[in-house]
Amino acid sequence: MKIDARVTLLDALREHLQLTGTKKGCDHGQCGACTVLVDGRRINSCLTLAMMHRDDAIVTIEGIGAPEHLHPLQAAFIEADGFQCGYCTPGQICSALGMLGEVDAGWPSHVSGEVAEPPILDAGEIRERMSGNICRCAAYPRIVQAITTYADAREGEAA
Ligand code: FES
Ligand code: FES
Repeated sequence: MKIDARVTLLDALREHLQLTGTKKGCDHGQCGACTVLVDGRRINSCLTLAMMHRDDAIVTIEGIGAPEHLHPLQAAFIEADGFQCGYCTPGQICSALGMLGEVDAGWPSHVSGEVAEPPILDAGEIRERMSGNICRCAAYPRIVQAITTYADAREGEAA
């Protein structure tokens, strides 16, 4: 695929590859609706150029799950009623998966009590770590609940 060097990753996904699950909210790095995973790390796809990621592994919401085969985090969002309009949801889910990878790697957040210890993923940690993802419907309590449910289940499986 050939595209103009000025095309953002977000526009390449939506307009050139028709992967419209990734949403454009602000187009200025302020809302998180465009969050995707690049080599496992979450980024705002509106703030980066597609040409910078030619050799990267990019995962969008389409690659995480499908209606007939939901990712457990997607199922947890449905179970918890973690959305209203759903516009922010693909970004929330991509961001949450990236965020959990950061927790697994032991990265502290602004609210972590002890930075030398593995982070404890309580509601405060989740809110802080997900603070780059805005929800205009204010479904925040249920988003936190969905992520908590998924994180707890994941921990149970690992034990
Ligand atoms: Fe990228 Fe809002 S659309 S952060
Ligand atoms: Fe509507 Fe989040 S569910 S913006």
